[in-house]
Amino acid sequence: MNLKENLKPEVVFDAITDASSQLDLETYVIGGFVRDILLKRPSKDLDFVCVGSGINLAKRAASILQSKKIAVYKNFGTAMVKFEDHELEFVGARKESYRKESRKPVVENGTLRDDQNRRDFTINALAIDLSKNNFGALVDPFDGQKDLKRKIIRTPLDPLITFSDDPLRMMRAIRFASQLNFDIDPDTYSAISDQKDRIKIVSKERIIIELNKIILSKTPSYGFKLLFQCGLLELIFPEMMALYGVETKDGKSHKDNFYHTLQVLDNISEHTDDLYLRWSAILHDIAKPPTKRFNRKVGWTFHGHEDKGARMVPGIFKRLKLPLNEKMKYVQKLVKLHLRPIALVKDEITDSAVRRLLFEAGDDIEDLMTLCKADITTKNSNRMQKYLSNFKKVEKKLNELEEKDRLRNFQPPISGEEIMETFDLKPSREVGEIKNEIREAILEGHISNDSNEARKLMFELAKQKGLTTDNSKT
Ligand code: CTP
Repeated sequence: MNLKENLKPEVVFDAITDASSQLDLETYVIGGFVRDILLKRPSKDLDFVCVGSGINLAKRAASILQSKKIAVYKNFGTAMVKFEDHELEFVGARKESYRKESRKPVVENGTLRDDQNRRDFTINALAIDLSKNNFGALVDPFDGQKDLKRKIIRTPLDPLITFSDDPLRMMRAIRFASQLNFDIDPDTYSAISDQKDRIKIVSKERIIIELNKIILSKTPSYGFKLLFQCGLLELIFPEMMALYGVETKDGKSHKDNFYHTLQVLDNISEHTDDLYLRWSAILHDIAKPPTKRFNRKVGWTFHGHEDKGARMVPGIFKRLKLPLNEKMKYVQKLVKLHLRPIALVKDEITDSAVRRLLFEAGDDIEDLMTLCKADITTKNSNRMQKYLSNFKKVEKKLNELEEKDRLRNFQPPISGEEIMETFDLKPSREVGEIKNEIREAILEGHISNDSNEARKLMFELAKQKGLTTDNSKT
């Protein structure tokens, strides 16, 4: 098969072919770029392998392309050239073997075949020849092309060797299966189950990159089910594993919160590609196992799981090496508030409850509503219809009240300073009380979110507390 029509941008491939011929090197484009050509997926990053020095090839190619952006990693024998918005990676073909307790390989020079042997999957070991007389020819020693057609993830060598060389590949197998909607070859999958414990030598930073890619795939539940069945989930994310299972007492069972969470995650993924909104779906019920109680009258309860769940978020983010910044706070907020719209839907929808929700959710109100809709997983279609139509009512009310009261980014219409100045007070309990009571009055709808009305109430409250403008007690 010849793929020369697909080798674009031409200027890059022409430069590399010229550089290789000047240096008398065999050169190939290899890996994800070739896979993505055959899958007709866009791909920007290009990996080149040559039989010889990748660094020399990179330098020559950079000079032909007139690119000054070259980074050389002598220790690894690799180099990277930036050309327009492409990253071109260069490496000399190598044989590698890995030491038992480390991912750092012992490297020796090798042939193209050696290099293909040491790659993770048959679909990632495809190479295209860039030499002048064979330009565009596909080199596919492991039937990678066939695996792409059959939609199979399979290692080129015995999977025990491939995974033992680099255990991160176990996560990558599941990540590619989830992203591409492929099956994992049975021998490859059973090797993951056998070697799962070796994931412990892989850094958390590398693991989370793969996990996040699984989460961002079209149907992330598929990747999670694979992680669960092979035993990796228990090792990398035990809190999620703990959601699994159904307990029955006195004939009463609760739902399986693992499968429920996956359903919520798939539901939300139909509406958003935001990684952290998807994370909030994964974590919304994370505290159900530690808050689970059985009560003879009411059956199973999970009281306070939303608060406890929000408190668990920082620890989980820290361990998984997710960012400990405003993204974490955002997930915490959504976990904490995730029951609130549902409660509104079930009960009478009062203005004050809706105002309070707007006040607490602020700009994240739409995302919270998206999460809550995804959380409706009832199989009873009547109940589903009822919830969804009530949701519409809540959304309508949210919009009306937001227009009227502008509570989303609520700033108190009277500041603490203004209260202190008016009544000549130092910072004190009374100042806080007046501020709170004004806020409560707005949320309860007794006054509107307006500075004149708030000032009027401030004077009334001050009077009740025995304060006057010159601070002489009445
Ligand atoms: N590779 C490997 N083992 C790894 C990581 C990478 O064998 N643990 C090889 C594969 O041949 C892969 C290539 O290096 O195709 C490039 O890796 P990477 O850029 O991480 O992945 P891509 O396959 O390009 O896919 P994506 O861009 O979706 O991450």
